Amino acid sequence: WRQRSELESMADLPPALEKELQRLDAEFWVSSDKLKKIVSRFRGELERGLKEEGKSIPMNVSWVHSLPSGDEKGKILTVDLGGTNLRVCTVELHGSEPAKGEKYTLTQEEFKLPKDLKTSTAEKLWTHIAGKIGTFLSDQGLDKEYSKDKPMPLGFTFSYPATQDKIDHAVLQRWTKGFDIEGVEGHDAAAQLREQLEARDLPVKLICVINDTVGAMVASAYNDPETIIGTIFGTGCNAAYMAKIESIHKLDKANEQVKHNDSGHMAINCEYGAFDNGHHVLPRTKYDERIDKESPRPGQQTFEKMSAGLYLGEIFRLVLLELVEKGLIFQNQNAEKLKHPYSIDTKLLTQIEDDESPKFKKTRNMFEDTLNLQPEDYEIELSRRLAELIAVRGARLCACGVAAICSLEDIKKGHVAADGSVANKHPKFKKRWATALGEILDWDDEAKKEGKGPIIITSAEDGSGVGCAIIAAMELERRRKDKS
Ligand code: GLC
Repeated sequence: WRQRSELESMADLPPALEKELQRLDAEFWVSSDKLKKIVSRFRGELERGLKEEGKSIPMNVSWVHSLPSGDEKGKILTVDLGGTNLRVCTVELHGSEPAKGEKYTLTQEEFKLPKDLKTSTAEKLWTHIAGKIGTFLSDQGLDKEYSKDKPMPLGFTFSYPATQDKIDHAVLQRWTKGFDIEGVEGHDAAAQLREQLEARDLPVKLICVINDTVGAMVASAYNDPETIIGTIFGTGCNAAYMAKIESIHKLDKANEQVKHNDSGHMAINCEYGAFDNGHHVLPRTKYDERIDKESPRPGQQTFEKMSAGLYLGEIFRLVLLELVEKGLIFQNQNAEKLKHPYSIDTKLLTQIEDDESPKFKKTRNMFEDTLNLQPEDYEIELSRRLAELIAVRGARLCACGVAAICSLEDIKKGHVAADGSVANKHPKFKKRWATALGEILDWDDEAKKEGKGPIIITSAEDGSGVGCAIIAAMELERRRKDKS
């Protein structure tokens, strides 16, 4: 089994630990055959999501009717509710007349989210967001430039599953990524935000609510017309693509917005983190089951909980803890910190795989700093192997989602614009993802290398800022045309 690993051994493992690692490898390795089985089921669930609401993967209609032409212009305010920050930006789109060679100019401020906000109430959440928008407007002097009669258009990136009847409406289906704020699920997040904006008399008008995947696809297509899919491999894991209107069976074709759609397409936010919630095909380990059971929403986001950044570090922690409890590692040391849920950030896995320092000094220091542990050589060796097993599984599973979309839409080539901390910061993610995609789609060995196949993973442009602004500009243009 060690042949699958790219690592050179830096120390021997005691036989009992070697045996454990062998077991872990068997549990975490997903073979080509298994990947293909997963993709086949995945495709079925995507199709089902396009037919009926609430049964499978959500396949949410976004009301983004086309990809941008690249000519979109305007000055837009955007706000993005991320996992740790709230980012507010002004984006000026220059369209086909770039300013100083750039297609857009962006000014931003990031506000740290208060720690307990993730588990607070709707009232607190929206007051906080509207408050920061107000701060940004006055910091940038925008409160003088705009008025209630001439409001600044606002785009909101709200990256959670939401049902949209139109683009400026978004009923939260359920929180994901560890959020658990009371009073938003089942309600229109746009209306809740609007209420707080109005309470503060802010000179803004909410134009659109978008998902980060749709934003990533649109922002990337603004520069790269070969973009076919926008995807996030970050705290969560999800993708969006342009579906043919006739394939979205659940869409009411008599709906005025559908009648006015002249591209024949619509962006679908898959929300495929919810794939396999019925537990039919994914090879879940006992660690995955425990993460699910102890999460705020057990039984949901099965696929995401095995592959996304929020969870990879936690899987790593649970395995280490088990080995400590079995008396195989960190004996006679205080492993107390390892007992705290989510005490290991996925960043640590990235850093372990990125560590080229002599004798893995960086990894040693990280264990010391985050966990108060002093690893021996064999413990470093074990951690490197484990970080690899967990991240490889994550990347291979992530390839299944995109492969399923390509199979559904019969896409044979193009660019998959990826964003998120795992996609962009993990040194080996993209290569592993490309190899797995090649195995699923039966590419030859050369094509399986990153950047060599017909479907290539690219780094997405800023979806939650620029992408959101472009979508708002496209929507304003649509409204202007509809009026005239
Ligand atoms: C979660 C969210 C989804 C988002 C993804 C990436 O899966 O439900 O809306 O796109 O995380 O941020």
